[in-house]
Amino acid sequence: SRRITVRDIARAKRDGERWPMLTAYDALTARVFDQAGIPVLLVGDSAAMVVYGYDSTVPVTVDDLVPLTAAVARSTSRSMVVADLPFGSYQGSAEQALDAAARFMKEGGAHAVKLEGGHRITHQVETLVAAGIPVMGHIGLTPQSVHTLGGYRVQGRGDDAAALLSDAKELERAGAFSVVLECVPTGVAAEITEQLTIPTIGIGAGARTDAQVLVWQDMAGLSPHVAKFVKTYANLTETLSDATKAFADEVVAGSFPGEEHSYF
Ligand code: KIV
Ligand code: NA
Repeated sequence: SRRITVRDIARAKRDGERWPMLTAYDALTARVFDQAGIPVLLVGDSAAMVVYGYDSTVPVTVDDLVPLTAAVARSTSRSMVVADLPFGSYQGSAEQALDAAARFMKEGGAHAVKLEGGHRITHQVETLVAAGIPVMGHIGLTPQSVHTLGGYRVQGRGDDAAALLSDAKELERAGAFSVVLECVPTGVAAEITEQLTIPTIGIGAGARTDAQVLVWQDMAGLSPHVAKFVKTYANLTETLSDATKAFADEVVAGSFPGEEHSYF
């Protein structure tokens, strides 16, 4: 069957259907998520941490992320592939944003891009949308601004809720097809979800958003530390560690390879 498009995403909101999104960064896991029916895969700048070993998303570059995007796009046939524009690749101007986004579309094979920010980047959103690039917004906790936010903390509490709603509405007006709400109170996320005609995608935003996203290594129990909002559906750390030790033990003992793994 065909690839999911922005039209399917818009229809889901109209029909009140919830949907899942996961991150993906490589061929084999993207294939699993595609076959499992995840409609949208995000090549997140969280690759900075889970692929490249940095301690924030700030250092990762377009050159780092484009090849991962290409791997995910090549290995999927159903999922819509969204690529994160990394820190420093779009804040400067709409022209800079278009250059970065075009690389993700042309070299990476992405079907959409995601940018962090509300009012401050709506000019970039308008330019990308006018160029024919679907844009996913991302507000609330925006990890590329961690040094301004003073850490990874819940956003949009109290008086800040109105500013968050206003940012969400501005992104919708600018033409975004969806918006990620990260680490915001459940009631605030629910209010934004009710007020928007585009779907909200929650992460640490409670159960009343239109969609939910998690970093796959968090969801599958491979990440060493996870936030309160993460549910772990498997324990890949234990599974992989057990397999690793079994392999190592058998090599030391001389029991691997067996005859069935050998050529004669
Ligand atoms: O980079 C990322 O993984 C993200 C999602 C968690 C929304 O931006
Ligand atoms: Na991101």
